[in-house]
Amino acid sequence: MTDDAIARNDNRSTTPENSAFHGYISGDWARARERSVTQRVQVPFCAERRRALSAKFAGHTLVFPAGPVLVRSYDTHHPYRAHSAFTYYSGWGADTVPDSVLILTPNGNGHDATMYYRFPAGRGTEEFYADADIGEFWVGPRPTPDDVAVELAIATKSLAELPAILAHADSKWAIIREADSTIAETVDRARGPRETRDDELAVFQSEQRLVKDEFEISEIRLAIAATATGFGDVLGTMSEVTAHPRGERLIEGTFNRRARADGNHVGYETIAAAGAHACILHWVRNDGPVNDGDLVLMDAGVEVESLYTADITRTFPVNGRFSETQRLVYEAVLEAADAAFAVVKPGIVFREVHAAAMAVIARHVSGWGFLPVSLEESLSESGQHHRRYMVHGTSHHLGLDVHDCPQARKEFYKDGVVREGMVFTIEPGLYFQIDDLTVPEHFRGIGVRIEDNIVVTSTGAENLSAGIPRTANEVEAWVGQRA
Ligand code: GLY
Ligand code: MN
Ligand code: MN
Repeated sequence: MTDDAIARNDNRSTTPENSAFHGYISGDWARARERSVTQRVQVPFCAERRRALSAKFAGHTLVFPAGPVLVRSYDTHHPYRAHSAFTYYSGWGADTVPDSVLILTPNGNGHDATMYYRFPAGRGTEEFYADADIGEFWVGPRPTPDDVAVELAIATKSLAELPAILAHADSKWAIIREADSTIAETVDRARGPRETRDDELAVFQSEQRLVKDEFEISEIRLAIAATATGFGDVLGTMSEVTAHPRGERLIEGTFNRRARADGNHVGYETIAAAGAHACILHWVRNDGPVNDGDLVLMDAGVEVESLYTADITRTFPVNGRFSETQRLVYEAVLEAADAAFAVVKPGIVFREVHAAAMAVIARHVSGWGFLPVSLEESLSESGQHHRRYMVHGTSHHLGLDVHDCPQARKEFYKDGVVREGMVFTIEPGLYFQIDDLTVPEHFRGIGVRIEDNIVVTSTGAENLSAGIPRTANEVEAWVGQRA
């Protein structure tokens, strides 16, 4: 066996290779039906984003790979998801053809955008019926170059032309490296080991994404609306959930079903944490039972077709009634969330949002007698004892990525000034681990997080997820009405 055959493991039936078969399968296909396509709503927004980028990188060729399909194991793959920087500048979202590359080429005056992607191969090729990875018989049809050009208002070229283009890379090229390491290496080989502006490009696009445009905010609203529906779906299944030994999985499945039905996917792995699992901040194993008397902490977000996501957490009592201690903790967290929300307005520093939430969290855990030091000492930089019960941050930017703008510099993110149009989360929590000897027994195993998504307005902030029940009473009524 050749190495290639070993690698492919030809145990499964293979496509016939004789020419009679090729002739037969290549012929007698009706003309492809024409789709009627129109320019996408995001086109002018993407053009504006590219204009700002172009001004910053005058004379540079800029490369934004969508990225390859990622292997899950052997010949199975993760669901495809284009890299966010690619989508940000191109407007191509869930239906991106894998391996596409957006290239911005300097034209003396700015940049021309070209989308290199794998064109439909045609019924006369072997690829269409014999290539399980990209053949259209296997993975579905690809859009025509004209259709893509109309929908995105970007010139299209065949991916087959890309190697020759990349071969001309020189020191005036910059690429989003993490999106496609193979393309990054190809560019590196051509331009040689010189100083590059790759890192600067990654930082620039992250910082550009800190303030959302009108299109982005409306897509995030859609993502939140679908997420709200998903939370409602879950509450409607609680009797089934409590009857199943892995009730958390049913919660995940029900939410993810909504994400697939109304959006592209979930924006991150759904956290469905019942009882003490709620104290594990990113509990995604979701293999536990959901019992009467438990709180369920559900942290989930639908990613819509444009690839914007929501990131919402609600914590609710399975039986529709908070116990006295559960309610005490819940209301402390809600107060922290409201305090954080109240300070948001243009001009504040981002980390003040966290500080506002922490002041409330610290006051409560101090009042309950859990801290070994005074409240003042705990709040001081050298103290922070209260963080034992909430080790995570209160806010992160949200958009194409759940933790959006990850490469923005600290002075524009954590230490940055809050500006109108920013979208971020407010998500304080309190988590009393099951084995935490610093708290009384009746607090142990209670975990609460309340997470909303807000947009900064000219004078303050709008809670985009305010429509999903938040107060303890609202949450109880919500669970009761769905039971
Ligand atoms: N779902 C992850 C987070 O809230 O940041
Ligand atoms: Mn979050
Ligand atoms: Mn979350």
